[in-house]
Amino acid sequence: MGFYHEHILPHMINLACGSKPITRQRQKVVPEAEGRILEIGMGSGLNIQHYDPQKVEKLWGLEPSHGMRAKARHRVETAPFELEWLDLPGEEIPLDNNSVDTVVLTYTLCTIPDWHTALQQMRRVLKPGGKLLFSEHGKAPDEAVRRRQDRINPLWMKIAGGCHVTRDIPGLLAEGGLEVRQIDTMYMPSTPKFAGFTYWGYAD
Ligand SMILES: C[S@@+](CC[C@H](N)C(=O)[O-])C[C@H]1O[C@@H](n2cnc3c(N)ncnc32)[C@H](O)[C@@H]1O
Repeated sequence: MGFYHEHILPHMINLACGSKPITRQRQKVVPEAEGRILEIGMGSGLNIQHYDPQKVEKLWGLEPSHGMRAKARHRVETAPFELEWLDLPGEEIPLDNNSVDTVVLTYTLCTIPDWHTALQQMRRVLKPGGKLLFSEHGKAPDEAVRRRQDRINPLWMKIAGGCHVTRDIPGLLAEGGLEVRQIDTMYMPSTPKFAGFTYWGYAD
């Protein structure tokens, strides 16, 4: 990995993902997590402060990028619950079948290269009765915005670490073997529409 991916990109992602509209989205889903929790693509650890410590038995934070893990170090070290790093991609979750109560996925499904394998892995580790909580951005419902997304996506992927703005989040979850039980959508305020159409809810 070059200097851009190791140092500049983690800083940019930390800033962008720390925006007020995204923070509000985190507040809608992360406090619902309970028990043995797996967060996929933990990034700079921006979700850590939104977990309810009373509900967390243990949190595994899976994050393949060394630069992102470095950015998260302080938040990880000061977490008020047991937190273990998994230095691997979502396509290779090293946990047992049916071992996790909650999977948390925020602004990561847009970036995972082999999202199909990764979702199957999440499904595999999720206990019966467990939940996958998500807040993800993706394909917009309006034709004009979708056309802009299609035009911007190739360049956006290069500068934003492989993030796609065109992914159909509920469609991906279903193809990955998950059933979407609750979903809301909106354009996030103060965010360019091409990057700001957000889906949140839970699947199992
Ligand atoms: C836009 S950031 C979001 C970070 C964090 N989830 C958040 O809400 O702030 C996308 C994250 O996905 C991670 N990522 C990239 N490829 C991945 C993969 N194959 N499996 C899991 N995470 C991945 C990136 O390193 C990055 O930290």
